[in-house]
Parts: sequence; C-alpha cells; structure tokens
Amino acid sequence: MTDLSHRAPAARRTIADVDVAGKRVLMRVDFNVPLDGGAITDDRRIRMAVPSIESVLERGGSLVLMSHLGRPRGDGPEPALSLEPIAARLGELLGRPVAFARDTVGDDAGAKVAALDDGGVVLLENLRFDKAEKKGGEDFAAALAAFGDVYCNNAFGTCHREHASMVAVPRTMKAAGKPAVAGSLVDKEIRYLQGVLAEPERPFLAILGGAKVSDKIVVIDNLLEICDAILIGGAMAYTFALARGRAVGDSLVEPEFTERAAAMLERGGDKIVLPVDDHCADRIASDSEKLITAGDIPDGFRGLDIGPETRKLFAERIAGARTVVWNGPMGVFETPPFDAGTRAVAEAVAASEAVSVIGGGDSAAAIQQLGLADRVDHVSTGGGASLEMLEGKSFASFELLDER
Ligand code: 3PG
Ligand code: MG
Repeated sequence: MTDLSHRAPAARRTIADVDVAGKRVLMRVDFNVPLDGGAITDDRRIRMAVPSIESVLERGGSLVLMSHLGRPRGDGPEPALSLEPIAARLGELLGRPVAFARDTVGDDAGAKVAALDDGGVVLLENLRFDKAEKKGGEDFAAALAAFGDVYCNNAFGTCHREHASMVAVPRTMKAAGKPAVAGSLVDKEIRYLQGVLAEPERPFLAILGGAKVSDKIVVIDNLLEICDAILIGGAMAYTFALARGRAVGDSLVEPEFTERAAAMLERGGDKIVLPVDDHCADRIASDSEKLITAGDIPDGFRGLDIGPETRKLFAERIAGARTVVWNGPMGVFETPPFDAGTRAVAEAVAASEAVSVIGGGDSAAAIQQLGLADRVDHVSTGGGASLEMLEGKSFASFELLDER
C-alpha cells in the first residue's frame, strides 16, 4: 500500500474549489446499491459519497441529490426500486434529516427543493422512472438543471453512462454560467484508475479474473500495452487453456473466443501468466468431489479455482510488483473452499507495498468480505465504469466538468 494522494489530481475542478455558502448544489450520486426486500445489503456507495455531501453542508450550502436505482422500465414508479430506503440510510449516516421527493421533476420535487434551507438535503426519486434519463432528454435535463446553482458529479459508478443527469444536465448548467465540478469520490476514483495507467511504477501487474474472456477482451488488449504482466484466473482462464489445446473437462468456457484468446497469448508472450494448476470439482458445492489438476482437466470435473501452486506463483509475482490493478475473482469464491485463490490474491495484494487498485464489482466485494479493504490503496465503487477505465476509455461525464 502506497499513498497516491501526492500525485497530480485529476485536472478538473472539485467541489472543494467552489464557494457553496448559500448555494444549492445539484449532486449526481450513484446510490445504486444492492437491496434485499428493501434492506440495503452493502451501503459502501452511499458512505463513499458522504464526504462531499458533508463538505457542502458544513460550508453552508444545501443539496439536491439525484441517483438511479436498478433498471426500471422507465414508464413510471416501481415501488421495489424507490430510493426512499436510501434517503433513510443517508439520514442516519449524516445525522440529519434527508427529505425525500416522491418524483424527480414533478410537483413534490419542486416544492421540496424550493423549501430547502442552507444545510438542508433532499433526495429525488429514482431518475430512471422517467425514460428521459437514459435518453438524455433535454426538457427533463432543463428541469433538473434549474434545481441547482452548482452541478457536482459524485457518481463514479455511472460515469460511463451518457444519461441526462450525467451529461445533458451539467451541459445545460454550464451554458447558464453555473459551475460543474467533480465530487471527491469521482476525483479519487479517476486519480487512482487513470493515474496508475498513465504513470505506473514498475513492475506494473494486472490481475484479471471472472467468468468471461469476452467481458475483458478490450481490457486485456489495453493492459498488454501498459502492464509488465497480466495474471489470469477465474473461469476465463479455461478459455485460455482451451486455446492452448488443453482439455478443460466440464469447465465454463467460451469456445467462440478461443481464437481471440490464442491471438492474445501470441501477442502477450511471457506477459500473460496463466494458472499452472486448477482446483476442480464435480459440481459447485462445498461437499463436492474435488481434484487438483496440472494441465488437462478430466471429463466429469470442472475448474472452480486456481490451484495451490498457482496461489504461490501469483503471490510471488504480486510481492515483486510496484503497481497492482485487480479486477475479478480467481474462482467461485462464494463457495468455500473455492475461495482460496481469491483469498490468497487478496492477502498478497494487501501485504504488498505496491500501489493497489481494486476494480469494482466482485473483486471489491471479495476484498471487503475478507476484511482487507482498508489495506489496499483504492477499492473502486464502479463495476462497469472501472472496467471501461481499464479499457482506456475516457468519460464525457467527467471530461465536460470545469477545468482547473
Ligand atoms: C452500476 O451499478 O453498474 C452503476 O450504478 C450503473 O448502473 P447501470 O449498469 O444499470 O447503468
Ligand atoms: Mg452496471
């Protein structure tokens, strides 16, 4: 773990640069958190947005917060995807009331925004209940834009989307001479994810896992240009094994991608490090019949995790790295003992002195479950967004913000 905060911050103004006293800040957040029957099962995205929210309130501003939740149809309210439980949780975290508007640009939102005093917070209902959010509708954007004196993008998990609240709203506000800035969460995410790719300390190691090669093709193509080595685990390793002419038994593979995988191996040479052994079983269950293989996997068995030799190999490579980016679990970590590979990688990353960045989604969940999240430098709140950063893409929602 190394502190990257001395690195040049992203070249966009942040909310800290704006005098917000007496101003209404329209802040896009990503409160798209997992819910189980109305109960929030992981509130990290909410907690990570809190510092920017508090900074506005402490400096005498007020906040209109807007977010999506899930993927509603876009033709009106769907009670299971209401943001109301999130307003309650945010109120607990802030220790002050958070008003909740039952619509986005309707009468209730209008009244609650108009009633905001300095230090007040209102959360609007799920933006995606209106199909204009995804379509980037101009009228919808103009109505939202009118709610704020300052626009703040604090929604890293949604930065790869060009939806109304991400792009049309800040453009409209900028055209009216209002500031459009990044929140501290977005600033930190971009600094780490873009920062390590732009000027990594070497050796720069990427660790990629997860089920599908197809999800990671562009990531691998981009990282092959930048990294010194890419360790590959998870089920995607079996498609690479297939590409090398190995038998993979009943492992999860994408046969249609073996040619692409073979081309990557050809191009990557020594840079691509594949598992040297696999932890296999006859089915995904803790009480399954298990087998460690090195090379071919027999029929009736499927690879479910990297094997013990691979755990050692990967841990050694991680220990020697100065920069590590990790995205995707090494095996079926929800079902022990097939969590051993993911656990070994997480422990090696936590123990290393490298700058360590964990892409969102499953690897972020894994490092949290293992209690190691505070021993790495950055755990992204973005799934798709962090992958697109690793693909080398830039985001309109960030680029359009005011330059420093
Ligand atoms: C996410 O969780 O990936 C973000 O909140 C964006 O949501 P989306 O993938 O439905 O656009
Ligand atoms: Mg997504």
